[in-house]
Amino acid sequence: MKITWLGHSAVKLEADKTILIDPFFAGPSQNLRAKQSTGVDFVAVTHAHGDHIGDAFAICKENNATFIGGAELANKAEKHGLKTLGMNVGGKIVVDGVVFNMVFAAHSANIGSPAGFVVEMNGSKVYHAGDTGLTLEMKLIGDLFKPDLSFLPIGDTYTMGVDAAAIAVEYLQTKRVVPIHYNTFPAINADPNQFKNKVGKNAEVIILEPGKVFELK
Ligand code: NI
Ligand code: MN
Repeated sequence: MKITWLGHSAVKLEADKTILIDPFFAGPSQNLRAKQSTGVDFVAVTHAHGDHIGDAFAICKENNATFIGGAELANKAEKHGLKTLGMNVGGKIVVDGVVFNMVFAAHSANIGSPAGFVVEMNGSKVYHAGDTGLTLEMKLIGDLFKPDLSFLPIGDTYTMGVDAAAIAVEYLQTKRVVPIHYNTFPAINADPNQFKNKVGKNAEVIILEPGKVFELK
């Protein structure tokens, strides 16, 4: 599976299908919007905050892609004329050989509830935490899925910071972790290398540059 971080919480997963999660293109990532949002099959959104829903509706329209999100948010997307698959925490959707599991996130949302996703595609399991604080639910996510790779927020203020995210890595039993949701604006400034040091030998910390592809084997 090819993994691309698109800045903030936006990520692209490419294998049999092309999936965008939380496609918000902020600041320096704005120039990735055009190139990175073609050929998309699914757009999954963790929660309705603007820095996560981003351009999701527009990208679905442009690609005739399916919107995947919490039931209330999917209803809103449907009213915009999009193909949608609504779900809720604890459920999974199997579509075109891809499994979307919706998992708990400790956060807030203006529409519906916040969530994370575990996406299973071509034999790999990738966890996108969305916005969340550290929560014991992550032990359950670890037990159920043992993610091959996890995207975890480290920016603090609105989500976990570096210290809590390093504990989340242990709970999740994840082999690799990519820090997200940091340095987009001053309130979420964080040092990914400090996170890497805290995680130590518990997982491989992969610090990505927006737009650069990481090959998950
Ligand atoms: Ni949020
Ligand atoms: Mn956010």
